Amino acid sequence: MNIAIYPGSFDPVTYGHLDIILRGSKVFDQVIVAVLHNSSKNPLFTVEERTQLLSVVTKEIENVSIESFQGLLAEYARVKKAKAIIKGLRAISDFEYEMQMASINRKLNNEVETFFMMTNHKFSYLSSSIVKDVARHGGSVEGLVPDIIEQELRAKFADPRGSTQQGG
Ligand code: PNS
Repeated sequence: MNIAIYPGSFDPVTYGHLDIILRGSKVFDQVIVAVLHNSSKNPLFTVEERTQLLSVVTKEIENVSIESFQGLLAEYARVKKAKAIIKGLRAISDFEYEMQMASINRKLNNEVETFFMMTNHKFSYLSSSIVKDVARHGGSVEGLVPDIIEQELRAKFADPRGSTQQGG
């Protein structure tokens, strides 16, 4: 069984991520979407919220499961017996960092291979940070994220406790 891990912060999941998940699910037997417990960032959504929202928006894709992890991705891949790490590339500017990550992950676990997928050009400008910024300032994120994420963003920024968070 070819298991692939698609890691990220997913704060929150966008249509760009969903596109990669869907296309990845057609290539690998199982795709584990792995949400990082990133203590160094200041996320808008908790890990529980992010995993729950990912579960909702991927519920129709049978071979996709949602998990969270902390520590090294290479170690997590070893535990999960994953042969692949999927990464989406939006632009050439993503390349240098991703090449570094792929090299260190291979060094740490030589049984895992990183597969890069070109993001659908419709979403090449999209990132969770941009989505949060637009929503934070009251702009429309329609067409950038699934409806449920749009609602959750609206709720976060309408709630004074939500709007005081930075959510990088
Ligand atoms: O969505 P993001 O924030 O760009 O995802 C980054 C992620 C989760 C892929 C990356 O930070 C990661 O793999 N973190 C786990 C720690 C790790 O293994 N680092 C690489 C070796 S230094």
